Amino acid sequence: PPEPTGRRPTLGFTPVPTSDADRLTLPEGYQAQVIIPWGTPIRPGGPAWRKDAANSAAEQAQQVGMNHDGMHFFPLGKGAERNRRGLLVLNHEYIDQQLLFPDGDAEMTREKVAKATAAHGVSIVELVHTDRHGWQVADSPRARRVTADTLVTFSGPVGPRHPALRAADPPRGTINNCSHGVTPWGTYLACEENFNAYFGTEHPGWEPTDLQARYGIDREGFGYRWHEADPRFDIAVNPHEANRFGWVVEIDPMDPDAVPVKRTALGRIKHEGCVTTEARGRIVAYTGDDQDGDYLYKFVGDGSWRAHRARGRSPLDHGTLYVARFEDDGTGRWLPLTHGTGPLTRDAGWADQADVLLRTREAADALGATPMDRPEWIAVNPGNQDVYCSLTNGSGRGGAANPRTPNPYGHIIRWRERDGDNTATTFTWDIFLLAGDPAYEERTDLTEDTRFGSPDGLWFDPDGRLWILTDVSNSSQNLPEKGYDRIGNNQMLAADPHTGEIRRFLTGPRGCEITGVITTPDQRTMFVNVQHPGEATPAWGEPTPENPRAVSNWPDFDPEGRPRSATIAIRRTDGGVIGA
Ligand code: FEO
Ligand code: CA
Ligand code: CA
Ligand code: CA
Repeated sequence: PPEPTGRRPTLGFTPVPTSDADRLTLPEGYQAQVIIPWGTPIRPGGPAWRKDAANSAAEQAQQVGMNHDGMHFFPLGKGAERNRRGLLVLNHEYIDQQLLFPDGDAEMTREKVAKATAAHGVSIVELVHTDRHGWQVADSPRARRVTADTLVTFSGPVGPRHPALRAADPPRGTINNCSHGVTPWGTYLACEENFNAYFGTEHPGWEPTDLQARYGIDREGFGYRWHEADPRFDIAVNPHEANRFGWVVEIDPMDPDAVPVKRTALGRIKHEGCVTTEARGRIVAYTGDDQDGDYLYKFVGDGSWRAHRARGRSPLDHGTLYVARFEDDGTGRWLPLTHGTGPLTRDAGWADQADVLLRTREAADALGATPMDRPEWIAVNPGNQDVYCSLTNGSGRGGAANPRTPNPYGHIIRWRERDGDNTATTFTWDIFLLAGDPAYEERTDLTEDTRFGSPDGLWFDPDGRLWILTDVSNSSQNLPEKGYDRIGNNQMLAADPHTGEIRRFLTGPRGCEITGVITTPDQRTMFVNVQHPGEATPAWGEPTPENPRAVSNWPDFDPEGRPRSATIAIRRTDGGVIGA
């Protein structure tokens, strides 16, 4: 979490109503500047965006990727300059092939796969703020793209030479980077979520192994069909390639030559994000596995992280990974995923710690972890070290911690580690809020003024305001039969964790999700991501290659263009602290 300011997390803005309009709404006295939409060159003078999507794969690799997600601002310079200059580092979760290619994806080619992989990963851009131009991309030696094709390496128990990682080519890339984390030593953690989406095969005899099946790998993936053009993604031809994904990837934004490192001690799951804090000099990292009925994890470093760093070792390579068990009485335990302990023995078929980590989900199954309603972002309150996690929606199989069966609106759970020590192995928990629309759902803590569903992004600002960002799926957005018509487009709210007061701060354009939030150190600029505006949404229609603007044409509203994910830089007209 950020350094606390000691200020009260007041909510001083006039809330906005729900909206189903194809535009962004903000409170009175706030304004937004759209920056770095998909296709923006990461350096001024780089290849320009082409609104017919005709940019090549090589051009895309020098441009901001698609579907902006988790994000952090690394300030540059000294003093007040740090509020006007910095590296914005952001994930690009996935791609929309209808928007990415001029002719859609009815035909799949090697060049299309190359462009699609180049639109994934992470962007690092240097931004500068001036009163005259607002926020702009500056030329920078640190600007770079990490894509699904960038050379990477592995560290921790599953090392680079582990047989399970052996494949035709050296390990490359990171993919489906959803949320993120930052370390106390100034690196960025990009987290690999739905990596199974990209694999498939037409091989008639192929059947998934138990390990592949537990991560959802099948013949189709999410229908991208890359395997038809590139054997790298053919799970029958190249089965180990998938073992290279599902990890937390550490990237040093300050060193453009630093090779991204997959930190295997943090486990292999569909990592939503990876949020760190410190306790007793140790690094603690929380990470959720975003799948209905999957689990919440915590990594606790061995010994002082500073001592590891001083010896040239990564604090993320040495420690214990735990999975959470929530009891119905409001207590909970962290169960160690340590080879040789509990059920994770050689006799029970677990070869070593690397085997436990490659099969993290199955190891957590064996330990009796609590199945959760899709763990998304996690945030640590900088004032008291309480931990909050959004459970976006799910089937509600996990006892009192997942109290609605089913749970279409989601909830936010919170826990306090024993004695406020985040390295502890026991905790107490409660439900911070049950989301929903009171017109459809009695069991909600929300009102006519605050209704929302499917919380996803969560972030504490340094004052202790809890920002909540929503991701109602496009198959439910705006639909009465899903109980989501009065909730409108996806939105962002702020909560005071002490009083429980909630105010709606922002609503997005049609078809989008609101995700990714960070401020400058002075909290006077807030960056927020608008992901997948215009994505196919039954309430608004189906985009086609002929009409990619069917749902939304945000932010350009160019009749010949197409919708684009973008970052918005929000400021107050009076220059004040965002939210206060
Ligand atoms: Fe990519 Fe779990 O949201
Ligand atoms: Ca998410
Ligand atoms: Ca989500
Ligand atoms: Ca998303």
